[in-house]
Amino acid sequence: MKIGFFGCGNMGTAIAEGFKKNYPENSGLELYFFTPSKTKAKDLADRLGGHFVSFAVDMPKDLDWYILAFKPQSLMDFNFAFNSNAKVLSVLAGTGIEALEKKFQINHVARLMPNTPSSIGFGANLFYANFDSEDMKKLLAALGKLFTMKSEKEMDIITSFSGSGPALVFEYARLFEKHLIALNAGASNDAREIIAQTFLGSAKLMEKAVQENISFETLREQVTSKKGVTFEALQIMEKNGLDHIMGGAFTAAYKRTLEIKKGI
Ligand SMILES: NC(=O)c1ccc[n+]([C@@H]2O[C@H](COP(=O)([O-])OP(=O)(O)OC[C@H]3O[C@@H](n4cnc5c(N)ncnc54)[C@H](OP(=O)(O)O)[C@@H]3O)[C@@H](O)[C@H]2O)c1
Repeated sequence: MKIGFFGCGNMGTAIAEGFKKNYPENSGLELYFFTPSKTKAKDLADRLGGHFVSFAVDMPKDLDWYILAFKPQSLMDFNFAFNSNAKVLSVLAGTGIEALEKKFQINHVARLMPNTPSSIGFGANLFYANFDSEDMKKLLAALGKLFTMKSEKEMDIITSFSGSGPALVFEYARLFEKHLIALNAGASNDAREIIAQTFLGSAKLMEKAVQENISFETLREQVTSKKGVTFEALQIMEKNGLDHIMGGAFTAAYKRTLEIKKGI
């Protein structure tokens, strides 16, 4: 399979590295890399044994897939005359399939919504295509768990949870750390690591619970005894409207996704 990358930043690099990891030498996987500044593309091509493409126009026209891995704002400056039957995978957040098909006069655009943890091979990656793309989905499995969406609308809704999700988790972790230090009279001994390990262990338990069809509520109840320490903390969260705050945050994020798609 031959794949051309336009953009070799965080995502382009994570995807290419994932592909290489999944496909051993001599498997027929050939990667081509282009970036305007040239350096990142050259470095990645050297490191992964791929082809460095100096100018966008020199990207071969007969590759199996092309990956758009630049920032949405770079789309204005990006032009490439794809063959009409080219298959393109876009990771551009907030850019719909219709807009890309129209811009490039092509009919096969798929979308991938990765998240930050996929750069280390974990995380929830969302995929949507309205044509046969099993070959690409097989490759993408190296980046973490791949979830195939039923529609682009579904992808836009879930993006607020999986794409933005890590930032919301990090904010939650920051508050854990801040309050731990405050209660511990300003001492920060191991605070960050204690929180990180608490989140890591909890995520592992959640993963197991999903496999065993156990709800997150049950997991919570297993840590909570009536009138105990955890119960007290959860009561404060409930009284202060945590549920309402989270609902508002996700609704606002989805609304913003739709605005960005419309170019607002
Ligand atoms: N990072 C995330 O967690 C995340 C999650 C979901 C979706 N995404 C999406 O992934 C995309 C890439 O994000 P990123 O974090 O990887 O960005 P990034 O690290 O800033 O990398 C952007 C890359 O695009 C290249 N580029 C700029 N203009 C270009 C053009 N006209 N043609 C070809 N390549 C061009 C840059 O080249 P130079 O090296 O020459 O500057 C750079 O290699 C974005 O659309 C973002 O919405 C990212």
